[in-house]
Amino acid sequence: MSSINQSMIEGFRLKGISDVPDLQVLIFLLVLLTYLISLIGNLTIVLLVCLDLHLHTPMYFFLANLSVIDILSSTTTLNMIFVIFSTHNHTVSTVTCMTQLYIFCTATGNESAILAAIGFDRYVAICRPLHYHTVMSRRLCGLLASVIWVSGFIEMVPIIVLISRFTCYISKEIDHYFCDMLPIRDITCSDTSLLDLYILIYGNVILFMLLFLTIASYIFIITSILRISSSTGRRKAFYTCSSHIMVVSIFYSSLVLLRSNCICK
Ligand SMILES: *[C@@H]1O[C@H](CO)[C@@H](O)[C@H](O)[C@H]1NC(C)=O
Repeated sequence: MSSINQSMIEGFRLKGISDVPDLQVLIFLLVLLTYLISLIGNLTIVLLVCLDLHLHTPMYFFLANLSVIDILSSTTTLNMIFVIFSTHNHTVSTVTCMTQLYIFCTATGNESAILAAIGFDRYVAICRPLHYHTVMSRRLCGLLASVIWVSGFIEMVPIIVLISRFTCYISKEIDHYFCDMLPIRDITCSDTSLLDLYILIYGNVILFMLLFLTIASYIFIITSILRISSSTGRRKAFYTCSSHIMVVSIFYSSLVLLRSNCICK
């Protein structure tokens, strides 16, 4: 295999997006439609939470945070599909690529942290209802959200620094539709041991810890719901939580699918 020694300035080619014209139109329309629906939905959530005083509770604030994250990550990951469709140029500059990578990784990390925060909020609301207002104070929520956002943006800096220092590439083609960490790692012939260590620590330890905390909250919630004696009360509590549990499952299963798809290639 010949390797391309290149400075990082030249950029990459995204080959995860079809070149077949008919298929491209179909993909473009589907992606555009999905993107617009999600954008409108998320903007509506953020606006409603900001404007409606009834929704000024920790859970809705965190939900609005999730919407902001969703807007960030869908906009960064999908923008190249729109650019490629309109310009037919699959090349993405290194700066765009690194920005995409940075925002997407930060958004994914923040999303799991916010999901854990929502899990904790529901745990306190359902299992410690009398202490809810003292525990989930405005101050604690503000603090949690700031820690999540600030640490999210800091945690990903090492990844960007390590990847920008790669100088050797087997190919310039990224087998994906946006610049993600593992597809880039796949095509480099530079030493990836530091990056791998960081991914292992960050990706596995921290994300698994957040997943564990989230699952633990829902286990506590479900056991306390099962102890509710009236069946209407139980149904009501289950009804409130099932949507959360669904969101958590969809998020983590798509994360695992996305990652394992990259790893197993
Ligand atoms: C995110 O959550 C924090 C803490 O609850 C809240 O203060 C902030 O307004 C939220 N951000 C958005 C965009 O809703």
